[in-house]
Amino acid sequence: MKADVLLGLQWGDEGKGKIVDVLTPKYGVIARFQGGPNAGHTLIFDGEKHVLHTIPSGIFRDNILNVIGNGVVIDPVIFQREVEGLLKSGVSPFNALVIARKAHLIMPTHGHLDAASEQAKGKAKIGSTLKGIGPTYMDKTGRNGLRIGDIESPSFKERFTQLRDKHVHILGQYPNYEYDLTESETKWLEAIEFLKKFKFIDSEHVLNNTLKSGKGILAEGAQGTMLDIDFGTYPFVTSSNTITAGACTGLGLPPNKIGDVFGIFKAYCTRVGSGPFPTELLGETGEKLRAAGSEFGATTGRPRRCGWLDLPQLKYAIMVNGVTQLCMMKADVLGEFDEIQVCTHYIYKDEEIDYLPYGIEPNEVQPVYKTFECWPGDLTGLRNVENIPASLNAYVKMIEEETGVPISILSVGPDREQTLILNADLK
Ligand code: GDP
Ligand code: IMO
Ligand code: MG
Repeated sequence: MKADVLLGLQWGDEGKGKIVDVLTPKYGVIARFQGGPNAGHTLIFDGEKHVLHTIPSGIFRDNILNVIGNGVVIDPVIFQREVEGLLKSGVSPFNALVIARKAHLIMPTHGHLDAASEQAKGKAKIGSTLKGIGPTYMDKTGRNGLRIGDIESPSFKERFTQLRDKHVHILGQYPNYEYDLTESETKWLEAIEFLKKFKFIDSEHVLNNTLKSGKGILAEGAQGTMLDIDFGTYPFVTSSNTITAGACTGLGLPPNKIGDVFGIFKAYCTRVGSGPFPTELLGETGEKLRAAGSEFGATTGRPRRCGWLDLPQLKYAIMVNGVTQLCMMKADVLGEFDEIQVCTHYIYKDEEIDYLPYGIEPNEVQPVYKTFECWPGDLTGLRNVENIPASLNAYVKMIEEETGVPISILSVGPDREQTLILNADLK
């Protein structure tokens, strides 16, 4: 048995949560492999909306083990709030969710270091979600971090205090940044006690044994390929590997145990936070896309920047991830338009290219567009593949031909039911 991976091909918020939830019944385990509470994964079913940040999106289905992998960074306070939200909606995660001992902990001072760094950067800020993600991964790679497994050690409190004091020292470099730790630290330590209600595991053993026993794993990504620390629009990225390789390092699965890679993209593009976005629409059309797609962040509520589909970018993401199946999301949103545009090439150094170069700032690449006929009307009631409008079928075919990868799932609304499965093997 091999583990399949599902991840975002653009700048995050492609709809990963929704599709993980749709595919969950085909697997035994859903495992998050990187990121942390910077993620906001939305699931809608039975008329209710749920937003998950750290907990895998398989949590609402029966008989599934949900694993928070070693590559994830966990803020215990946000985690506790998330669990309490689940309990309120009648879902008890205590037996359905386990946490890797090797996952790192986000401390209150990590959040302050994030905020102080962003404040000091001024206009050059990354637009971080300010959840302490960057500083926590810095402590991980700097070999200073605190891990879930450390909670079980008698010296946990001492190590926490040592690292906190180090952070307080660093925060002294930001004289204009004010903060107070009293309340947040008490809450954090209480949340650590709450975390102990969950089983901590050596996830690499559990997951490899899961595959050996013939059960399937779906590895759930967070963020998107263009936010990857190595292959994204650096420095305007997150601090982890969001690509398929991140599923190996973030779960302890060897590369030859990776099966299908589901790559998710919107039928257009969005981005939250700063950084280059070649096909961004700054005027009325962008506003129209934002309104039609309700493009506001699931974690921070910030308006998402909107633009047309970018094929050189999509092909790049497919290449670095080894995508085997595509899922196209939000096709219904484009129903507001008579015609749409797709970037097929860039002008780069006076030449037309169809790949993503090192720099994609507006002064480096200019997108070249092709216009496509749209599928005006409301698609959200579409359930039968036979009734897909011809212009949407042509759009799907064009993307499949350009990328060489089949579109297996077509999403026409936020609800679990508003999903067309084009690949018969997934039904
Ligand atoms: P994730 O971070 O990749 O899980 O995505 P988010 O949950 O942050 O953002 C996706 C948003 O689009 C959420 O509000 C979803 O409810 C919504 N959504 C997902 N698929 C569709 C779709 O096909 N059509 C529409 N209109 N909304 C969708
Ligand atoms: P999901 O999993 C969209 C963006 C932030 C910022 C940059 C760095 O819901 O798709 P960080 O908090 O990691 O330091 O922020 O990355 N970002 C996301 N954008 N979706 C996400 O997650 C994101 N997680 C981080 O807006 O630009
Ligand atoms: Mg999101």
